[in-house]
This record gives sequence, structure tokens and C-alpha cells, in this order.
Amino acid sequence: MDALAADFAAELDRQDELAPFRDEFVSAEPGLIYLDGNSLGRLPRRAAERVRAAVEDEWGRRLIRGWNEGWFTAARRLGAQIAGLIGAGADDVIVSDSTSVNFFKLAAAALAARPGRRVIVTDDLNFPSDLYLLQGVARLLNQGHTLRVVHSPDGLSVPLEALAAAVQPDTALVALSHVAYRSGFLYDLPAVTALTQAAGALMLWDLSHSAGAVPVDLAAANVDLAVGCTYKYLNGGPGAPAYLYVRGDWQAELLNPIWGWFGQRDQFAMAPDYAPAPGLERFLVGTPPVLSLTAIEAGVELVRAAGLERLRAKSVRLSQYLLTLWQAWLEPLGVTLNSPADPARRGSHVALGHPDGWRINRALIESMHVIPDFRPPDSIRLGLAPLYTSFADVHEALRRFRQVLAEGRHAAYPAGRPAVT
Ligand SMILES: Cc1ncc(COP(=O)(O)O)c(C=O)c1O
Repeated sequence: MDALAADFAAELDRQDELAPFRDEFVSAEPGLIYLDGNSLGRLPRRAAERVRAAVEDEWGRRLIRGWNEGWFTAARRLGAQIAGLIGAGADDVIVSDSTSVNFFKLAAAALAARPGRRVIVTDDLNFPSDLYLLQGVARLLNQGHTLRVVHSPDGLSVPLEALAAAVQPDTALVALSHVAYRSGFLYDLPAVTALTQAAGALMLWDLSHSAGAVPVDLAAANVDLAVGCTYKYLNGGPGAPAYLYVRGDWQAELLNPIWGWFGQRDQFAMAPDYAPAPGLERFLVGTPPVLSLTAIEAGVELVRAAGLERLRAKSVRLSQYLLTLWQAWLEPLGVTLNSPADPARRGSHVALGHPDGWRINRALIESMHVIPDFRPPDSIRLGLAPLYTSFADVHEALRRFRQVLAEGRHAAYPAGRPAVT
């Protein structure tokens, strides 16, 4: 069979045992190809129903009694469910705040645990918020902490040796994204964790672009700390709260730098002085957004039902198929592969590059009914969310991509970028 034919994609979809999960998601616009689930996952049908029930039945009828009927324990309950997706113990993950705020809390806690060391190692593929937060923590502490930012030689990946060379006896903390937000580069999490700890530093992983699409085993790798978001492959909804992981033996030692009443031991005793809660609750700060917490559960349930091994296998099949089509149709038109070619070193999105990437992305969204996203300087990211992205989606999206270039449709769009993308 011709791998470039639409029939081939249809056959791959027929063989896909995860295909039925697609119907679990709201698909409001026929013909729309959504390839941005790596940024904001689709709405699970059951999440819509649960949020309705939380608004009308819980908030509407139960009012403040809701706190004792599940709201108060939701952060822990959801944390335990997410723990199952990232290889963590049920007591080692809790949902709270945003990824950025959790990252700040854990980075500050880690630096305090290594008082004699002043270097934070990260890389220049890392998500900007993480870099800003590390810069901000260093400045706030005012103890001479500096960042050692490992440079990616090709802008796509970081060789393990380069990272290993940066982690020295002066290093307090290594903070990296498991999957790089732009290129999709996937770090060898156990190897990096091991070399970090061998140097006496703590390891903090940002799992935002891996959890729910790439298997993660924090316990097996003995990871110290991790954070991640719930609105990408976990489909928790826009602005859904994030999660944080602290390995069990750190929980009594590390301190949250933000002392709020949800982190207080015996919170409702309303004591005037702060005393941290004994377990992971100490990393909470204030009242959680209950309606957003409600939305997370449905998406997490679907990921658990599909199973990460199956999701990863499908994700790799989707991205390899995408590369076959890119090579045949787009590479000859000047589109580069801005992701690692080896699927073992790639997460679940593929970045394609073109000097007119911004305009091509606009043309795809506005005239071709395809939603990818763009990351400067030239990458169009195509997110492959294995719960609902089909092989037919990939085929049709790349066919439309080729059409944009062949017809020069992107020339109709301005080169300038608006403030929000
Ligand atoms: C890898 C990574 N880290 C952190 C963030 C920031 O997340 P938040 O805005 O929820 O703090 C994002 C957002 O997309 C991200 O992709």
C-alpha cells in the first residue's frame, strides 16, 4: 500500500486500539484538525458534565458544606491519581497553583537544602518561565547563586556529556524540562538524575510536556523533585492547576518558601505562627480553585484508562508517520525538521521549521482549518495527542500544509506577530 495515500492513514486508524478514545472528547467543529493538544488538550465530554455538576449541585446546592464533601481533599486525591501516571507514590504528588509557582517553591526549597553550593544548572532549551523563575529565586535569595545554562549546539537537543560537564561540586540544583517545549527533545531522565545526584545536587524535572504522553518513572529514577501542568496531555482545561512531586524522604526536610494557611499544620486551629504541615500539604499555599480541580479528574482518568505504554507506542507511530509525509511532501519545499529525528529522543510533538513559519502557521489556522502553533524563531509545532489525534488527522494536516506552500497562501498574512499566540 502507498504510505502517502489517504487509505493508508485510514488503515492505520483501523488498527489503532486507542481509536475509541477519540469519542470521549468534544469535537465541536467538523473538519477542524487540532494539533495543539501539547499546549491545551481537548475538552473531555465527562469533564464538561462534572464541571456542570460541581457548579449546580455542589456549589449551587451544597454551598460551603462542599468543603467537607470532597473539595478539601481534592488536591490530594487528584495528586494520587496523577502519581500513577508519573511513577510516583500516591503520597508524593499534590495538585496546587500553577506550574510556575510550584517550580518556584521547589527550586527555592532545593537551594535551601544545599546551603554551601551556589550554582543552578539548566539549559537554553528550557521553557522561559522556568528560566525566569530560576533567575528570580537567585536574586531573591541574594546569596550569590548563579545560573549555568548549558547551550544546545543545534538548538534541538543537549548532549548528555555537555550536561554532565556542567554539573560540578558547586552545583546545588539541576532543573530541566523532561521534554523541551520547542523541539520536543526528550532527556534521558534516569541518566541525568543519576549524574546530578552523584555530584551531590538535587534534581528538579518539569514534566509539563511529557506527563500523559511519555512514560515517566520518578520512583525508579529516585528523582528528588518534579512539577508539571495538567492542561496539556492531561486535558485538565485552560488554567487548570498544576502538580508538584517531592520524594518521600525530602518531605519533612524541605520548606515551602510561601507560607500560607493551606500549608499550615492543623490549619483550622488558626494559630498565629506558621508551623509547616508534616507531609506534602506544606507545599500548598491558599484556597484551591475547586471548579478547575473538578475538570482535571476526567482527563486524568482517560489517560489512566488508555495506559501510558499504549499512548507512547501510538505517539511514536504518529510522529514517525508524520516524518514520512514531511520527507515526501514538505522537505522538498524547504521545510526543515526542528525536532530530533530519533523517536527515542523525542516527546509527542514534532516541530517543523521554515523562514516563513509564522505566516504558514496563520494560513493553516485561518484558511485551512488546521490548528498547530508557532514558536520563534521559525518552528511550527504539531502536537500529537495520542488519546485523540488520528493518523488521518496527520495525513490531512500535512496535505493542507503542502497546499499552503504550493499555492503560496501564507503570503497573504502579515509577518508580524501579535502579543498572544
Ligand atoms: C514546560 C513548561 N513549564 C512551565 C510552563 C508554565 O506553566 P504555567 O503557566 O501553568 O505556570 C509551561 C507552559 O506552557 C511549560 O510548557
